[in-house]
Amino acid sequence: MSRPPLSDLVGGLTQRDRTDPYRWIHDATDQHRAQHGCWAYPYQDGSILGALRDALRPIRVLELGTALGYTACWWAAGGARVDTLEADPVHVQLARDMIAQAAPWGVVTVRQGEFADLMPELDSTYDLAFFDGYAPPPDLLPTIATRLAPDGTLVATNLDLFGGGFRADLSINPAWHAAFVEDLAVARRR
Ligand SMILES: C[S@@+](CC[C@H](N)C(=O)[O-])C[C@H]1O[C@@H](n2cnc3c(N)ncnc32)[C@H](O)[C@@H]1O
Repeated sequence: MSRPPLSDLVGGLTQRDRTDPYRWIHDATDQHRAQHGCWAYPYQDGSILGALRDALRPIRVLELGTALGYTACWWAAGGARVDTLEADPVHVQLARDMIAQAAPWGVVTVRQGEFADLMPELDSTYDLAFFDGYAPPPDLLPTIATRLAPDGTLVATNLDLFGGGFRADLSINPAWHAAFVEDLAVARRR
């Protein structure tokens, strides 16, 4: 995976095509949440993930937090193989159905279980990891580091949920170099 400097990378994201071919999954996720009473909030604008994807060209993507598959489809649209992790069995089934319609070329695998249980079972490293499972937990960085290729990129959102400690942690962590754009952290190991 090529490694444009983080400042160039995030600076280029604001000028992007905001067309959203997966908006129908976003809308279905909002409808599902109202009925299910869950916290399946779809990521607000997949086009920024599409711009990141096109800049970085990851071959393997690990996603934490599938919901109904909106962001998994954005990552897969660049041709990457995507492993996406989700605990809720209702979300897993709905996501498999949505992804089969939206990205039927078979590159997305939805794995059911808790992040902490599934991560050690993965047999791959990833060029890009995307965290969208509520607020990033404090132990996320070392855990993700075990799954990320040495030159891989971590993308995380929900930075300000539950007090926003992750943004501050990442900013001062000497092992990581981070940039922030819109509601995303984009980080690499130093
Ligand atoms: C914010 S939603 C993901 C939204 C999705 N990326 C999208 O844009 O449509 C968070 C999802 O992560 C799942 N989740 C939260 N914590 C989890 C955990 N510890 N292990 C596995 N799944 C988890 C929730 O069930 C929920 O479906």
